[in-house]
Amino acid sequence: MSSPELSIILGVTGGVSAYKSCDLLRRLQELPGVTPSIHIIPTRSSLNFVGKSLWEALSGNPVHDDMWQNTYAVPHISLARKADLIIIAPASAESISKFAHGRADDLLSATVLASTATKILVPAMHPEMYQNAAVQKNLQYLETIGFIIVQPDEGRMTGEDYGLGRYPELSKILHEVRRALGLQRDLTGVKVLVSAGGTRESIDPVRFIGNRSSGKQGYAIAQAALDRGASVTIVSANVSLPDPRGSRVIRVESADEMHTSLSAEAANFDVVVMAAAVADAKPMASNEKIAKADFTRIELQRNPDILATLTASRRADQVFIAFAAQTGSTGLGRAVEKYSAKGADLLYFNDVSGGAIFGEPFTSGVILDEPSPSEEISQISKYELANKLLDRALHKLGFSND
Ligand code: CTP
Repeated sequence: MSSPELSIILGVTGGVSAYKSCDLLRRLQELPGVTPSIHIIPTRSSLNFVGKSLWEALSGNPVHDDMWQNTYAVPHISLARKADLIIIAPASAESISKFAHGRADDLLSATVLASTATKILVPAMHPEMYQNAAVQKNLQYLETIGFIIVQPDEGRMTGEDYGLGRYPELSKILHEVRRALGLQRDLTGVKVLVSAGGTRESIDPVRFIGNRSSGKQGYAIAQAALDRGASVTIVSANVSLPDPRGSRVIRVESADEMHTSLSAEAANFDVVVMAAAVADAKPMASNEKIAKADFTRIELQRNPDILATLTASRRADQVFIAFAAQTGSTGLGRAVEKYSAKGADLLYFNDVSGGAIFGEPFTSGVILDEPSPSEEISQISKYELANKLLDRALHKLGFSND
């Protein structure tokens, strides 16, 4: 069987590290299982660092750097349509600002704007620039519209400078490229069960007690696992997101329904992720709508702790991932207590003070993972967090994922 043809655009913007993209190009040409045709679009300023002839020689394709060459072929539209993937490496502060503002005043920005392909952005610049609030705001916005951002490395820069902003190790970029092209199938054969959303506990036929969970984190885990080849079942409580393609979705409403469903399913799965916000208590529900005059207090009874009951009868070769949404300064301490009390292998703690993180595309928190080191997470997408958790789960299952 011949390997699939792919068209990749490598956009190179003005930064000293542009020369590192020559190696990236070579590594893209050697991606196993595919034969990519790679088109380089250098910006004018990047040509001060690496010239057009070198890009043509290395890529084996003509290099376009001008909107006004071959105008009859409308180069930005024809390149944009053909592309399966666009990588911008290094991405300068200027180019990031252009993409975030939808500008299209050179061939690269116009092509990026005209393309619906997956886009991977590799920021590389001086630490002061990278950490500048304007650059960070632009990067966060680009992530919300679907750009995959590869975090820069920390290390030596040009001259004596040192800090966060270095062109990352190629393996980090290639990891994202393989994922984006569906070539990272390291969860093939692994069965992942994810609970997502927030339960609703009936007060009467009209009213319920609910919570603010949107289901985004659980669905991001399901999507990431599917993208990596896993077979995925979602037990979904009151989520209004589309079903991830290829997943099996079981809909539930209350904690009791979720408990019944997960108890029946869990033993058949390798990885169980409790991302759902489960109500800790339920009202003594009335079959009839309660009249206003009688609606003065709600009697509650405790719900089961689903995770604790599942881990009580778990197999040793399963991996359980828990979440803990906490508020206030004691939050992390409480999360550590839950981590051991609930028998989870991994726990993601996030501080949801003031309603933060619910419904948002980003997350910040701490991954607790004994005996491996814990990891602080700052403003990454829920999809990226999903991949980090799945990487660790895979490691616990005894697979390597480099
Ligand atoms: N969880 C569960 N069953 C419950 C409550 C929570 O399985 N009845 C799971 C959640 O899905 C999550 C983890 O336990 O993975 C921690 O949930 P959290 O609400 O933070 O903890 P609680 O045990 O409810 O503790 P508290 O509300 O006292 O903070």
